[in-house]
Amino acid sequence: MTRPTDSGRLSESGLPVEPVYGPDALADWDPAAQLGEPGGYPFTRGVYPTMYTGRPWTVRQYAGFGTAAESNARYRQLIEHGTTGLSVAFDLPTQMGYDSDAPQAAGEVGKVGVAIDSVEDMRALFDGIPLGEVSTSMTINAPAALLLLLYQIVAEEQGVRPAALTGTVQNDVLKEYIARGTYIFPPQPSLRLTADLFRYCGAELPRWNTISISGYHMAEAGATPVQEIAFTLANGIAYVRAAVAAGMDVDAFAPRLSFFFVARTTLLEEVAKFRAARRIWARVMREEFGARNPKSQTLRFHTQTAGVQLTAQQPEVNVARVTVQALAAVLGGTQSLHTNSYDEALALPSESAARLALRTQQVLAHETDVTATVDPFAGSYAVESLTDAVEEAALGLMRRIEERGGAVAAVEQGFQKSEIERSAYAVAQEIEEGERVVVGVNRFRTEGQEEPYVPLAVDPGLEAAQAQRLERLRAGRDAAAVRSALDALRAAAGSRDENVLYPMREALRARATLGEVCDALREVWGAYEPRDAL
Ligand code: 3HC
Repeated sequence: MTRPTDSGRLSESGLPVEPVYGPDALADWDPAAQLGEPGGYPFTRGVYPTMYTGRPWTVRQYAGFGTAAESNARYRQLIEHGTTGLSVAFDLPTQMGYDSDAPQAAGEVGKVGVAIDSVEDMRALFDGIPLGEVSTSMTINAPAALLLLLYQIVAEEQGVRPAALTGTVQNDVLKEYIARGTYIFPPQPSLRLTADLFRYCGAELPRWNTISISGYHMAEAGATPVQEIAFTLANGIAYVRAAVAAGMDVDAFAPRLSFFFVARTTLLEEVAKFRAARRIWARVMREEFGARNPKSQTLRFHTQTAGVQLTAQQPEVNVARVTVQALAAVLGGTQSLHTNSYDEALALPSESAARLALRTQQVLAHETDVTATVDPFAGSYAVESLTDAVEEAALGLMRRIEERGGAVAAVEQGFQKSEIERSAYAVAQEIEEGERVVVGVNRFRTEGQEEPYVPLAVDPGLEAAQAQRLERLRAGRDAAAVRSALDALRAAAGSRDENVLYPMREALRARATLGEVCDALREVWGAYEPRDAL
């Protein structure tokens, strides 16, 4: 929403929004420099010349819970309902590098995503799904390399060539230190592992998107649109610097970088945000890193509608919010989209709510005219002015990060985290004071008709069943082979020039568990403790 102030209305990012924009707003505006052609530098209008007139965005619904078999059933339902890309949610033990029977996993197994302990679970997760024909995103960060290798092993068992595999691992640990918190190792070993994964994919999995540099979680934690793209792009710069410092040519890995943003209900500023982000990234990649391949300069991104804007009160109203948010992502040129289910503020999405979320995308793709022409807001007095304003503010914030030594140093100083907390507090105050309207919450309430909150129900039997699967796996494997594979992994992790993904793959193939592999790395690299950040 735009906030009223004495000097006029302000946007989500605190930028002035004029009641009327006219020709004078773009008086000295240079479309050739600021826009370019669709699919051409600086990519303001989109990353492909034809955008949705050539191919609609990927309908990619994030899903995963319980055991691999349960999640496999949901993926099959989503494919049947017309989803065109898979997106895997993992439970916290998997994301934090613990086996389901580790003490740290108690109460979390299969709760916010699927429990994956070994190659056997990965095989069950994709049972009956041809991995040569789908693109799969995996929301996994610190142990991203492990889940990618498990995916490759299962695909090879299906007879799929690694070079044919398409998909994405999120693999963005920097934002985990800022928001979300699923980190394992300290920043420097984490960046080394990220660079090793870039190099491995360059050699073995050329169509795989190696990272999804995410602003979504920072936005959900309270970041404004300007903070979201400034902190995300600054993290992107840190990853590119790390890979270049590791000796990689920027055009060898940059085409496979990708991004992930939120879409809020403030549609106009969101469209401006996406367009500004593409233009900033294109210029950074060409001017700072000398990237010559146009694919190295394109910011391809996935969008998820804003979960934090969903309400538990009158949940059906969320359908309207998600529709506006999804439209913002599409008008902003997203490559892939997840629409939230209207009941997600209450519990894990029901199948019918997940279907409605999917259908919302299908209405936009097949019943509207927003796919008929590329970047329809181009030349708009208001949206081009907002795009320039968001870009200028984001560049200013990125300079403040550079002054602190770059994104990693700023993370260790707690800079991004404190900036986001300040924004989140301001929004909470505005809602509390009624200055920011949340329909059904602080205005247009329906007393007494609120839905009861349904806590996430964890099936207690699930944890025990998963522990038994692990016991059978450990009893049935070649223990000596696992031990020697883990020794080779530790040796590689201790060296500066060995790519850890190769010994890691062989350990996983020998049925080492995710927890055993992560523990081997913890022994060599240590574990990140927030006090390190001070
Ligand atoms: N003209 C020509 N080619 C086109 C085209 C057009 N108009 N449109 C698409 N294509 C081509 C592309 O070049 C690509 O070919 P390639 O693989 O050979 O390069 C192919 O068609 C597929 O198109 P995209 O790559 O644009 O679309 P994808 O869906 O495959 O990839 C992505 C999109 C953003 C690049 C990718 O990284 C992706 O899928 N990301 C998803 C990330 C995700 O789902 N994250 C979930 C996070 S949930 C989370 O974090 C937890 C919770 O807390 C929120």
